[in-house]
Amino acid sequence: MIQFQRKKNKMKQIILDCDPGQDDAVALALAMAATDEIELLGVTTVAGNVPLNLTQRNARIMCEMCNRPDIKVYAGAEKPMIHDLVTAEHVHGKSGLDGIDIYEPNHPLEEKHAVDYIIETCLASENDNIILVPTGPLTNIGLAIEREPAILLKIKEIVLMGGALREGGNITPSAEFNIYVDPEAAQIVLKCGRPIVAMSLDVTHQVLTTRKRVDTIRNLNSSVGEHIASLIEFYERYDEEKYHFDGAPLHDPCTVAYLLKPELFSLKDVNMEVETGGEFTRGATVVDFWDVTDRLPNVKWAYEVDDVGFFELLNEYLEKL
Ligand code: BDR
Ligand code: CA
Repeated sequence: MIQFQRKKNKMKQIILDCDPGQDDAVALALAMAATDEIELLGVTTVAGNVPLNLTQRNARIMCEMCNRPDIKVYAGAEKPMIHDLVTAEHVHGKSGLDGIDIYEPNHPLEEKHAVDYIIETCLASENDNIILVPTGPLTNIGLAIEREPAILLKIKEIVLMGGALREGGNITPSAEFNIYVDPEAAQIVLKCGRPIVAMSLDVTHQVLTTRKRVDTIRNLNSSVGEHIASLIEFYERYDEEKYHFDGAPLHDPCTVAYLLKPELFSLKDVNMEVETGGEFTRGATVVDFWDVTDRLPNVKWAYEVDDVGFFELLNEYLEKL
């Protein structure tokens, strides 16, 4: 009993807010596999890579794939706070999870709206230990903070995938997709005053799914290895063609990998702002990496990763499934 209590106290309590998306799917699998380290309080979904009716379904498919009937899935915002939704079927396919068989899962969708769930869960928490892990546009998180700022007292940190400095944009020349889709929500998050860790394209572009790495995943002693490899294989073609990379960057799992093994990443405290106007630069992240302003740091910016260590970690955890 005492041992169980100790283990529970050490566990990171997270809400994973996602828009699956193949790389979100890998992040989900990693979080669901880490049952000794991560208490996955809930999965909230948002419109992003594909519309909301597909992202929530895809999250439920992942719960079934990972054999986690206990995980609750909530659907949130159908569109960004101000602008129209921009999706990325050109990367993820029409279903968002092209590469595997898509079906209507039995795993239920909770009735509660994701934003209500985030607010209620934070407010009900007895401590300030909740970690939000957004791997899609920041709409749900922005709405939750705007509607109930008191949740900030319960949030330990926000570990997000979004932004870019060195790498430039991936959806426009200057903007990364998650921030571009809802820059107003991103601005609310960046100004919220809680510790933020940003996994940007600068670091995720170092985490490449080479042929050898995908083959290793496929041959893992894991019930999900084959499916995860097939998802990655579909998703690779876009970035391989665009960047001439060997494989694709596994953006979103960097967030969960950071929670499991932060020493894989090099981080710097920086000020990060988001461009909400801008004729050409909407959604661009302005990152003061070299401290040339007196703006205060609001983000721990990941700029380097041990990619070999990342894939060792991913494989180790996928084997638990
Ligand atoms: C981000 O955009 C999405 O397409 C991916 O899922 C990832 O969250 C990368 O820019
Ligand atoms: Ca995503």
